[in-house]
Amino acid sequence: MTDRMISPNANQEEEFFEKSLRPQSFAQYIGQEKVKQELSIYIQAAQKREEALDHVLLYGPPGLGKTTMAMVIANEMQVNIRTTSGPAIEKPGDLIATLNELEPGDVLFVDEIHRLPRVAEEMLYSAMEDFFVDIMVGQGTTAHPVHFPLPPFTLIGATTRAGMLSAPLRDRFGIISHMQYYDENDLKEIVQRTASIFETEIVTEGAVEIARRSRGTPRIANRLLKRVRDFAQVQADGIINREIADKALSLLQVDHEGLDLVDQKLIKTMIELYNGGPVGLSTLSINIGEERETVEDMYEPYLIQKGFLKRTPRGRVATALSYEHFGYPYQE
Ligand code: ADE
Repeated sequence: MTDRMISPNANQEEEFFEKSLRPQSFAQYIGQEKVKQELSIYIQAAQKREEALDHVLLYGPPGLGKTTMAMVIANEMQVNIRTTSGPAIEKPGDLIATLNELEPGDVLFVDEIHRLPRVAEEMLYSAMEDFFVDIMVGQGTTAHPVHFPLPPFTLIGATTRAGMLSAPLRDRFGIISHMQYYDENDLKEIVQRTASIFETEIVTEGAVEIARRSRGTPRIANRLLKRVRDFAQVQADGIINREIADKALSLLQVDHEGLDLVDQKLIKTMIELYNGGPVGLSTLSINIGEERETVEDMYEPYLIQKGFLKRTPRGRVATALSYEHFGYPYQE
């Protein structure tokens, strides 16, 4: 995958950096008001009943803070959180080892839950519904199930699209929350908060400029902030204003709508090679050298939300706005 400046996927260094910035409570968590409001009620209710919180499914594009939200939920519930991911669980034993560590009320966070192996997913059904797993012990004629009780716990699953989950798994989540792209004002506040943690001076217009060009995604906003900060330090007095932000972002080839080289390539391919579409997702993905799923989960949702691209039954279509933005003449 392209190492794009605005890729919403985190690398290792970034994960460490994100940890140091992570809000600890709903009060510190900026944006996602609807998700916070709902969860806050369910959390208070569970606490009153002295029960584990119902299982929670968080879905939405990468980089919007699903992991952070899971950690905040555990913090607000005042319980421990264990973290794993779909791809990290290769065999049922990996899942059993993790389940075995849970204390009553704990949160088990499973990132990329749509990538759980089938056997592990099926094991989760009884774990989630009735807090037990049946483990097969022995081989051949001596094989028999052993009943393994679990403490009541909360599973928090994260996925980029709720539709990628099988119906039996999705149905076992009592709470399903959709994480939305952040608006400009929320992103501005996040940039300002991060800058203050970095002890970097930033004027409001500088924060707004970074916010505007971050694709509605905090991970991208914080990444751009780091680069703009370098720029301000070397080429100016270290203070981030609108002009410095604009210069740095232009240099990074992030355009005024927050579109990077890959987005630009995607749209231009549609217009130049396919007359604006409709063009199939697979064809488009091959043309720009990205995985089909990457295009569908990371690139498209923002382009669709911003009105640059449309999904039709016959394929993807570039909109009039795309033609205008990239300076091509448009005809119906
Ligand atoms: N840093 C990254 N995302 C954040 C958020 N939603 N609230 C506060 N700080 C953040």
